[in-house]
Amino acid sequence: MVYSMNAPQTQSQIEAVARLLAQAGQVVALTGAGISVESGIPAFRGSQGLWEKYDPMEFASIEAFIADPQRVWGMLLELDHLVRSARPNPAHEALARLERAGRLSGVVTQNIDGLHQAAGSRFVVEFHGSGRRLVCLSCGRQVRRGEVLMEVLPPRCPCGGVVKPDVVFFGEPIPEREAMTAFAMASSCQVMLVVGTSAVVAPASHLPVLAKQAGAKVVEINLEPTGLSRHVSDYVFHESASAVLPRLAQAVEDLLGGQD
Ligand code: APR
Repeated sequence: MVYSMNAPQTQSQIEAVARLLAQAGQVVALTGAGISVESGIPAFRGSQGLWEKYDPMEFASIEAFIADPQRVWGMLLELDHLVRSARPNPAHEALARLERAGRLSGVVTQNIDGLHQAAGSRFVVEFHGSGRRLVCLSCGRQVRRGEVLMEVLPPRCPCGGVVKPDVVFFGEPIPEREAMTAFAMASSCQVMLVVGTSAVVAPASHLPVLAKQAGAKVVEINLEPTGLSRHVSDYVFHESASAVLPRLAQAVEDLLGGQD
């Protein structure tokens, strides 16, 4: 069901979703780049998207990285600068509030920016890895930033090997522990909040479908329609995450407060 953006209807749908969250057993959030746009980190697709500027197959595939790590690091440093200067926005903070209120079991994020943890979320599954960690392609160990010279590209491990951010490039598998955890969360939740994702990249895009098939209600908050909006999502808000999530968190806290 797609809801128009007029305020009264949006508010009544926020209250309906709040009632769902207040009585659900397991609630899980799946987030994508859209939740961090208002923290200054561009999304990948759509106007102003990173993939409008850089061809993902030339800059975000493991084959391209191995073929020319210096060129890919040129793009990575541009994104890295934005990520390191980014701060959580009210959408990240609202999910942390829902977790503290006991109404969100955890967040599965496709983002590598660490903003959920910075906002106070404690259970975060980094489905596509983390830009805060570096890994050496030769010796395989995690390398601390202080151990590498980032001024010389590609940065190298003390062993001499090329390091890459510990993120999942196209053509790489999802880390097994994160994949298992995320699929278990999706198949056992009663509500899944899907926030700021175009839902076009598998296997993350399978998670809302899995949740739906397992009987969960799916609540989508995304500026634009996605492949989920018509047939998977039970509630759709085509508004910004920072406009909807804080109101949702407040409505849930009001309901829980009223139950005292
Ligand atoms: N609030 C809500 N939604 C927003 C906002 C906002 N403020 N700003 C943008 N969006 C929506 C866009 O309309 C878009 O549908 O967020 C979505 C972001 O989609 P993508 O840019 O495709 O990002 P994502 O879905 O996370 O991409 C998945 O693709 O390139 C790979 O590994 C990368 O993790 C990434 C994966």
